[in-house]
Amino acid sequence: MCMIAQSDMIASMLDFASIAVDPAALPEHTDLRELFEDGERPIELEIGCGKGAFLLRQAQAHPQRNFLGIEWANKFYKFAADRMARWGLGNVRIMRTDAREFVMTRLAAECLSALHIYHPDPWPKKKHLRRRLIQPPFLDAAIRVLRPGARLALQTDHADYFEQMKLVTAARHDLIAVPFEDDEHGSVDGSIKTNFEIKYLREGRPIYRLAFRKSQR
Ligand SMILES: C[S@@+](CC[C@H](N)C(=O)[O-])C[C@H]1O[C@@H](n2cnc3c(N)ncnc32)[C@H](O)[C@@H]1O
Repeated sequence: MCMIAQSDMIASMLDFASIAVDPAALPEHTDLRELFEDGERPIELEIGCGKGAFLLRQAQAHPQRNFLGIEWANKFYKFAADRMARWGLGNVRIMRTDAREFVMTRLAAECLSALHIYHPDPWPKKKHLRRRLIQPPFLDAAIRVLRPGARLALQTDHADYFEQMKLVTAARHDLIAVPFEDDEHGSVDGSIKTNFEIKYLREGRPIYRLAFRKSQR
């Protein structure tokens, strides 16, 4: 009994190593292709993937695409990484780093086919507003790393942050609004949800959504 538990643990640790990415080991400017078994597949990034429910189910539903989750909080990162290792999917990876800094300084131009940002921290206090992720400098960088025609999807339960998201994105001529539901890059009929989305829907809170495609130049 004890030996089985130990061998399970070792197997899980090995798998964990195969899906967890060390940002320090990546080149200064990375297009992420080297992270995956088949790097030529389209790559989708989820920022703040939390416990990983959306990322994992998307990766399972779309084996022909690659998925990277970036999560800063160690507790969520470990939870998601352990779950990913146990699911044994070859097309999903996770990295613990500051996604804002990674997108703005490390990611190569036009390497993503989709960028998912669901329930980013709302920072509701006035003195913390500048910590919000969706602001013009970050959006510039996010658009730079999307391929022409790639998708940007935003979702929040926070009405004031949603207004900010609408304002910041409306100022961009290189973003074309599209329906949020999408059978390739996101949930259809709400079938694939994030952990926070599940929780907030149960509580009856509103969910606000926006989706765009980057213009084809
Ligand atoms: C409110 S939770 C939402 C989690 C998940 N997206 C969901 O919908 O269930 C926000 C997540 O973003 C992570 N996060 C916040 N800032 C981050 C950053 N700069 N880089 C990576 N992750 C970040 C937090 O640790 C947290 O797990």
